[in-house]
Amino acid sequence: MSDSESKIADAIANPQNMGEMSDADSVGTVGNPECGDMVRMWLKFDHKNGKKIIDKASFQSFGCQTAIAVASMATEMLKGKTVEEAQELNSKDLSAPLGPLPPMKIHCGEMVEGALRDALNEDSESSEPTQTSQPATNTLLGDMNEPSLKSGKLKVVKIDD
Ligand code: FES
Repeated sequence: MSDSESKIADAIANPQNMGEMSDADSVGTVGNPECGDMVRMWLKFDHKNGKKIIDKASFQSFGCQTAIAVASMATEMLKGKTVEEAQELNSKDLSAPLGPLPPMKIHCGEMVEGALRDALNEDSESSEPTQTSQPATNTLLGDMNEPSLKSGKLKVVKIDD
């Protein structure tokens, strides 16, 4: 087992911050039509020294063990970060404690990044009272029917409840 594989196995055996957060300020969800997995992330904010920070983060991942491992690391990493700092983090940063992910698993880290971005976006949009209906292609099902998927390009899509 490689170093990265054993770190992933450890994180899966003892995942941190897994589960729905009932008092969350925002939630982000993404799905990947190719592997059928979904990652959802909840964020709770606080203020420190005049800055908005992430007080705590939690996640759910449906199906994928590597996404669980990355999300576990990411939700620990996010605690105490300012929103600006969190926006700077990409999937490589979020999965860094696990070591480099195998090529087939890179998209699992991208799913976690996508869920984080969605949650951060949702929070910045939350002051807008308007609710617009989403186009049908902006759902997991709608996206699965997108012809562009046939090109084989990885696509992580935002999912609305
Ligand atoms: Fe698709 Fe991990 S296999 S998220």
